[in-house]
Parts: sequence; structure tokens; C-alpha cells
Amino acid sequence: MVLPTRGAFRTRGIARTRPGSRSRLDPGNPRRNVVSPILKSLRALADPTRLRIVSLLERAELSVNELQEITRLGQSRISTHLGLLSETGLLLSRRDGKRTFYRLNRAAGTTATEFTRLAIRGAAELPEHEGDAVNLRRVLARREEQAQVYFNQVAGRFDRSYGPGRSWQAFGHLLLRMLPPLTVADLGSGEGLLAELLARRCRKVIAVDNSEKMVEFGARKARKNGLKNLEFRQGDLQSPPIEPESVDVVVLSQSLHHAGDPAQALRAAFAVLKPGGQLLLLDLVKHSFDKAHELYGDRWLGFPESDLHRWLEMAGFRSIEISVVAREEQEPHFETLLAAAERPPGPRPEAPAR
Ligand SMILES: C[S@@+](CC[C@H](N)C(=O)[O-])C[C@H]1O[C@@H](n2cnc3c(N)ncnc32)[C@H](O)[C@@H]1O
Repeated sequence: MVLPTRGAFRTRGIARTRPGSRSRLDPGNPRRNVVSPILKSLRALADPTRLRIVSLLERAELSVNELQEITRLGQSRISTHLGLLSETGLLLSRRDGKRTFYRLNRAAGTTATEFTRLAIRGAAELPEHEGDAVNLRRVLARREEQAQVYFNQVAGRFDRSYGPGRSWQAFGHLLLRMLPPLTVADLGSGEGLLAELLARRCRKVIAVDNSEKMVEFGARKARKNGLKNLEFRQGDLQSPPIEPESVDVVVLSQSLHHAGDPAQALRAAFAVLKPGGQLLLLDLVKHSFDKAHELYGDRWLGFPESDLHRWLEMAGFRSIEISVVAREEQEPHFETLLAAAERPPGPRPEAPAR
């Protein structure tokens, strides 16, 4: 071990030579003062506390505070030891907000791995070893508990409370990934809120709306977003400008209640679907909020499930399922229903009764 001389100073426990001064141990040869990495590591490990730290970090990544709590040493001492070990490359650290976490550098090389093994064996011989192990278990268990405390508190109302990054938009993107590449017709598409989302996954999306402005705006937006598979067409959802039997799915999202003849709109949806295709419809449950005519241009104040069911059946759809999927918190508490129905596979059935 090189002892500090009058010309040397101590930084974080390691003897160093002041620049420009010479140690008495190496007169005239400054190269002999260059400390080899192995020697540096040996020096760094020649301390019981540092052995304890290496041994603890071998079992878990720990913050300074946690190491302090486990070893019962002051923060500045811990930091000094961590600094020394880090200088040798035996440890790595990362910042997480205000905290710094340390872990063993498992990619430090064979020599470092040998040193680490030796350090762990050395730590096991120390009287503090048992206590460190107990305290480590306690700290790790508490970490686990802290992560659970929040969720235990919000369980039961979690779906109604805010959670960072949780949104229906994000869920929508996730759910889309489950879709096969389909051809979809979005009838009464508006400016394409849903159509754009679908176009990120579908083979082709045809968005139909009778508002010239909506179509113009939607088409411009789709171009701007580079969605070449999203085509806007101006037309009526009761006779959409789409080839018969050409799409896998028809979507009617909050548009059926704008149609003069909703039953005709459902027949038209049936006609453009390939045999075996699906109709997916979101609309409002029958309500009595009259102002919807004036405020939102609605023709129908939603629909009773029974009317929808009947119209779908009369259009030729089978496997009809209708359910209420959402209720708004604010007055007038609009409720949304989702209807799913299948155009049966095989040739078109006899002309449905009107
Ligand atoms: C409430 S918005 C729904 C937009 C979109 N589907 C959504 O869920 O965000 C209704 C849209 O249907 C369109 N629309 C109304 N009557 C229509 C009709 N007969 N044929 C085609 N589109 C119609 C309107 O121009 C409007 O863009």
C-alpha cells in the first residue's frame, strides 16, 4: 500500500500524488505513480464497509438512503464508499428523480467479477453480515409494499380515477393491434376521428359523409398524416357510394340518429358488407333531451334497443347483440349502445320484408 507522503493528498480514501510534486517512494519517476486498475480495485475493496456494500449490491440495486438504512452508516460515509467503488468500475449508478441507485457492474470483466466474488466472501466473514441480510430483506419488502399501498387504496375505483398514461385513446391503439387487416366503411364518419385510428391498422378505410366540409377537412387531414389507405367519399349513408359486398366491417358511430330512414341505412350497410361481414354501430339509447335537435342537429333522440333489433333483423342481419356500453356522468346522462350484427355467410337471402 502506498502511504501518503507530505506531497500526497487523500481523495475519497485513495492516496494520490499532487500534480507537480514527487513521492519519496518514487524519486524521479512519475510513471511509477500511475495506479493500475487492479491495484485500484484492491485498495477500494480493502475496507470492511465496502465489502458489505458490494455484497448488498450483489443482491439488489439500492439507493443511498436504503444502503444507509441497512448498514446504519451516515450518508456522507456511504457516499464516499460508493464513490470509491464506482471509480474502479465495479459499480454503476442511475438517477431516478432525486435518488441515485447503485448496482454491481456485471459487465466489468473477469477480473472485476473475481474481485466481486472475493468481496462477497469477505463480507460473509464480517460480524455485520447477518444484520445486513435482515435489514436488506426488510427494505426490499417495504419497497414492494409501497408499490402496493397505492393500488390497494384505489382498488375498486381505479377505473374511474386518473392514472398516468391510461386513456381510452391509448387503449384504442392497443385494441387495434388485435385486428386483422380489414376493409372498413365508416358511414357518417365526420372528419374521421375513428376512421384515422382504424386506417393505422386496416387495409383500407372508406369514410363516407354527406357534409362537403367534413369530407374536405377529413381528406386534407388524412393526406397530412400520410394515411394513403383512408379515402373520404361524399355521400349519403342510406345509399353509400361503395361497391356492394366489398367491405369486411361497416361502422356507424353516432351517425344513425342523423338518418331520415334508419332502417334503410341498415339495409344499405348490409348491402355493402361481404357475406360474413360485421356491422358495428354506436348510437344513443332513446332519450328525451329535446334540445339535441337544435344543439347537435340530431333527427332522432336515440333509439330503443327493440327498434334497432327489429330493423337489423329485417335488413337480414343475424347474431345480433345490443348492449349499453357507456353512461355519461353529466346531465342529461346520455347512454351509448353498441350493436353488433353479422351478415350471414353465403349468398344474399331473399329480399327482406319491409
Ligand atoms: C355526430 S357525427 C359522428 C361522426 C363520427 N362518426 C364520430 O363518431 O366521431 C355525425 C356525422 O354524420 C354525418 N351525417 C349526417 N347525416 C348523414 C347522412 N345522411 N349521410 C352521411 N353522413 C351523414 C354528419 O355530417 C356528421 O359528420
